[in-house]
Amino acid sequence: MIRVRNMTFEDMTLGLRLKQKAGWNQTPADWARFLVLQPDGCFVADLDGAPAGTVTTCVFGAVGWVGMMLVDPGQRRRGVGRELMLRALEFLESKGVRSVRLDATPMGEPLYRGLGFVPQFHLSRLEGELHAVGEARGVEPGCREHWESAARLDREVTNTDRRRLLFELFHERPGELRVVLRGGTVVGFLTTRRGARALYVGPCVATAEAGPLLLADVWRRHAGKFAFIDVPLGNAAALSWVKRNGLFEQRQLLRMCRGEKVEECVSQLWASSGPEKG
Ligand SMILES: CC(C)(COP(=O)(O)OP(=O)(O)OC[C@H]1O[C@@H](n2cnc3c(N)ncnc32)[C@H](O)[C@@H]1OP(=O)(O)O)[C@@H](O)C(=O)NCCC(=O)NCCS
Repeated sequence: MIRVRNMTFEDMTLGLRLKQKAGWNQTPADWARFLVLQPDGCFVADLDGAPAGTVTTCVFGAVGWVGMMLVDPGQRRRGVGRELMLRALEFLESKGVRSVRLDATPMGEPLYRGLGFVPQFHLSRLEGELHAVGEARGVEPGCREHWESAARLDREVTNTDRRRLLFELFHERPGELRVVLRGGTVVGFLTTRRGARALYVGPCVATAEAGPLLLADVWRRHAGKFAFIDVPLGNAAALSWVKRNGLFEQRQLLRMCRGEKVEECVSQLWASSGPEKG
């Protein structure tokens, strides 16, 4: 029997065990952030009394994100993933969400298609060691007074008010926020976070001019570290910059949407915030 219940901080060891088995990059800080952002919208499935899977959601107004769909390898293909997604959808609908979005792995995609999700675009997950590249003039450390302006830019580009997520990320690692300003307004920002396997670079939202500067800056600051970055295939400039500067495609993710379509301006999305929240 499958029973889906709310996730609590006590389930973090389960979450960490499942992501470890799947070879994913999340840390305890990531799981804590998912629970802080949506304490009532993260779920665990128990199969015959034993914990078997997880899912997280996050409400950004009319848009909801689903992430961390993970089922223990020994308990897959028994309907656990489907029950978790149904519960996530029920929760998001109860919050008035009109668009549900996610980044699908090839394993998850058929399940999501069957539940009404449609493909939007692919992202490339690239990985490799960062090294110092050319000058990044005009990039400066971001501070509290830049947060609102960065969130406004992010909203224009993603068509989603992700302020709650962004402010949480900026607050967690204030020293990692970098911005490019024009006339006091943020025209590009980037931050990073630690991962279990690699430094995660993103989100990075920026104009065509600011994007390469922000990437060059992070490549230089974190030279020698192994990193992951998720770049939309539709942003050819970002993809070629990242490949030219030493990273290789590890796999692709498919961004999907259910309900009202939400579209990003992908030419200004230089790096996703991660598969959990786009
Ligand atoms: C993707 C994932 C979460 C699916 O979980 P799951 O519990 O296996 O999902 P379900 O059992 O509900 O459905 C999976 C398939 O099994 C089938 N299935 C469900 N119950 C079944 C049963 N009793 N017998 C046989 N097949 C069954 C479903 O029809 C579905 O088939 P389809 O994908 O070909 O349409 C799981 O494979 C996983 O954790 N993968 C690794 C992490 C990952 O990639 N997550 C997705 C991130 S987007």
